[in-house]
Amino acid sequence: MRVGTHDDSWWSRAAVYQVYPRSFRDGNGDGLGDLQGVIDGLGHLESLSIDAVWLSPFYPSPQNDSGYDVSDPRAVDPMFGTLDDFARLVDQAHERGLRVIVDIVPNHVSASHSWFVEALSSPAGSPARRRFHFVDGKGEAGELPPNNWESIFGGPAWTRVKEPDGSWGQWYLHLFDHTQPDLNWVNDEVRIDALNTLAFWLDLRVDGFRVDVALGLAKDMTYPDLIDPIGMSQSLRFDLDPGSAEAVERRAALANSAIFDRDEIHDIYRQWRSLLESYGNDKMAVVEAWVAPERASRYVAPDTLHQIFGFDFLVVAWDAKSIRDAIQHGIDAVSAVGAPPTWALSNHDSPRVVTRLGDGPEGLARARALALIAHALPGSVYVYQGEELGLCDVEVPDSARQDPVWFRSAGREKGRDGGRVPLPWSGSQPPYGFTDRADVSLWLPQPEHWESWTVEAEGDDPDSMLNLYRSSLALRRSHSSLASEEIEFWSVDDDELVVFRRGADVVVVANTSDQWLPSPVAGSILVASGPVVAGDAGVEIGPNTTVWLQM
Ligand code: NOJ
Repeated sequence: MRVGTHDDSWWSRAAVYQVYPRSFRDGNGDGLGDLQGVIDGLGHLESLSIDAVWLSPFYPSPQNDSGYDVSDPRAVDPMFGTLDDFARLVDQAHERGLRVIVDIVPNHVSASHSWFVEALSSPAGSPARRRFHFVDGKGEAGELPPNNWESIFGGPAWTRVKEPDGSWGQWYLHLFDHTQPDLNWVNDEVRIDALNTLAFWLDLRVDGFRVDVALGLAKDMTYPDLIDPIGMSQSLRFDLDPGSAEAVERRAALANSAIFDRDEIHDIYRQWRSLLESYGNDKMAVVEAWVAPERASRYVAPDTLHQIFGFDFLVVAWDAKSIRDAIQHGIDAVSAVGAPPTWALSNHDSPRVVTRLGDGPEGLARARALALIAHALPGSVYVYQGEELGLCDVEVPDSARQDPVWFRSAGREKGRDGGRVPLPWSGSQPPYGFTDRADVSLWLPQPEHWESWTVEAEGDDPDSMLNLYRSSLALRRSHSSLASEEIEFWSVDDDELVVFRRGADVVVVANTSDQWLPSPVAGSILVASGPVVAGDAGVEIGPNTTVWLQM
């Protein structure tokens, strides 16, 4: 089969590296990651054959949700630097042949955004309130929330405000933390403001956008109760095997629901597409929208946006059938409309892939094997910082946790901090070259055992995860068969193997079992994630190992 992408747009084959700015690298010696740190780290990305860098939010923000609570979407938070730093970053990335994608957070703003501050001091029904979802409560005195919607971070999705005269008043909607009020996208001012934000960053020569909560902007403004409010809010969480009946059911319930994935959302993206095209045909947007495959193509139709994250590998079970299904889903979801599939093993919201697949040597072997599967697939691949080092989730002490999920669930859920710890670059003890300051405590503490997991140490080790990523991502770029749009699954007797051919002459064989297995195909080894022996009798593949074979 061929995947649907029939153009040569840069994103359709890109390897994109996600930078989480607080934790990537400190460039100004204050102990916190920043834009100068990203500039300093561009060489690392170049050595990985990365095509584009996606920056998670670096805008002014109280940091209640690590920057996804934006108080001014058209500026740089001083903790990360200045607009001049950003312009330098874009220049230097472009000079190295790297494109720049920035995050846009259109579903909500921070409670400290001037619009929300104005709304709080304005009366019910005022234009300032109509930029948000301010609604009267139920009950005799409006003391009950307007409906039963739940926040994705846990707890109710409504918070009641004190009116300017000090009395209890209306409720406002927040699908995330109470410091992240949802915007009302029926309001033209909201639409125009987002277009201004896109244009602002396009004028600064960014190449694309990652659209946060892209499935959430439109709401049913009659605010009906949901039948399963907790299930609905949980459906965006990365904790279910995509093939499981529960996951399928949850995703089906999202479709055109009161909160998510409403049909009218695409009017917004059509407007965005026109704006992007007015800047030329090499600007793109990738949407975060975990919807069922039959709904995904709506986000990437020729008149809407360009890519939708394929999230199945974030949750896929470690068995051959689940992996084959995940690949097939990823391709089916977008091919009909000619959009390229995308693959991601981790991101800042998910557990780190090594941890998810079992931690220790086994988790690492499986993560290496899954990476070689993903890097061999047609479409583009998203790499989350630290994934290329094979980092595990860090056991963050409860007293140091920062994620609103931890606070809103009253400690029942640990949240996402374990995968957000500042990166280790060099040296044998914290802060491992992340910052030049030895005396600083980092926003999340690094563990004591990262000495051999730094960029420097792994660079010197031919068998490291880093060198595996360097090899596979370089080959992915240079080998014409891997650049092709063709993929063909081979049916094999052994149900613990995933086997597919790419282009004319590369075959990928993944052994998901704990035993050595013979490869059904012969060939010379291009790259392998673990032990592989090629002899006269054919190719033998070690446990939890993927190999790329040149036929
Ligand atoms: C998705 C982002 O990836 C996540 O980190 C954030 O907490 C929510 N959207 C809210 O913006």
